Amino acid sequence: MKKHELTTPALLLDLDRMERNLKKMAQFFSDGPTRLRPHFKNHKCLELARRQMAGGAIGMTCATLAEAESVINAGVKSVLIANEIASQEKLARFVELSRKVDLMICVDNAGVARRLASIAKDQNVVASVLLDVDVGLHRCGVAPGCAAVPMAKAIVESGLRLRGVMGYEGHVLRKQHGSEKVRAAEQAMQLLLETKAIIEREGIPIGIVSGGGTGSYEISGRYPGVTEIQAGSYLVMDADYATVRPEFEIALTMLTTVISKTKYERVIVDAGLKSLSCERGLPPLKDVDSVSTEKLNAEHGILRIESNRDGPDVGTKIEMWVHYSDATINLHNRMYGIRNGIVEEILEITH
Ligand SMILES: Cc1ncc(COP(=O)(O)O)c(C=O)c1O
Repeated sequence: MKKHELTTPALLLDLDRMERNLKKMAQFFSDGPTRLRPHFKNHKCLELARRQMAGGAIGMTCATLAEAESVINAGVKSVLIANEIASQEKLARFVELSRKVDLMICVDNAGVARRLASIAKDQNVVASVLLDVDVGLHRCGVAPGCAAVPMAKAIVESGLRLRGVMGYEGHVLRKQHGSEKVRAAEQAMQLLLETKAIIEREGIPIGIVSGGGTGSYEISGRYPGVTEIQAGSYLVMDADYATVRPEFEIALTMLTTVISKTKYERVIVDAGLKSLSCERGLPPLKDVDSVSTEKLNAEHGILRIESNRDGPDVGTKIEMWVHYSDATINLHNRMYGIRNGIVEEILEITH
């Protein structure tokens, strides 16, 4: 089938672009010592995860327990949940999953650590955790430095296996490239490494040092002592991230159909907020002149026609660059893999 024959709105993945992104990131990490553990939450596609693993990734990073269950059921043998969980039900599911593969989760609370350890002990399972350190994002994580020691001790004393530390420098990733960004990313990694050293001085060994994303992979991924990087968005990319990461190509677009037109003024396409996130900005148009995205309603995309132009007719197919891939992909059940204008494969998205 040709891409223009697809029912719209349809999420398209340009396979050539995606493959170049895959190769570029894999090559960067191929000469180590830091390794790539790509974040699954961005594309939520088991087939793309399989290709990242085949490209040399050491395992997958996930944001939720459900994502970890999906990738483990699909055969991934090493998984980090780079996030916290707290409910008894989820802690029990985590322990159950830990029987099957090398699974780790982030912890920043002593009560959770004790409850997790207790379930693991009852089930005769060793549960592995990373101590989450707040390196400046101010989301989850304990304060860096000496302040992290009591938590590290609480983890070890509870009976959990403390595998390492994680510090996600999410506050740095979308800064423009330059010395200020390098300084900010390095400062975050330095906080993480210093915390590791302080914990180790207490006799607690720290193996894994994990952090990073698409916006910092080449800085944090070369910072001495960092062992793994969690970049995810680099694979499919989006218009927002491309402004700071031009070395990766935007591979994700939304195919839409013009359903209404007011000549010289506006056209309406059949993709709105229910198909496309505009949380970080409006999706720009691909290969269309004299028309620009004005706003998104639930099921309508409102495009403005520049003055004195007729504009595309009803029925015309228009492609929009996805502006924020993370919050767009999860709105869909599949991506259509496109090469040379032809639908080459259908890539299922897990939920
Ligand atoms: C904990 C964590 N690690 C890593 C990432 C990196 O993702 P990206 O490749 O989108 O920068 C994210 C993204 O939100 C994240 O939340």
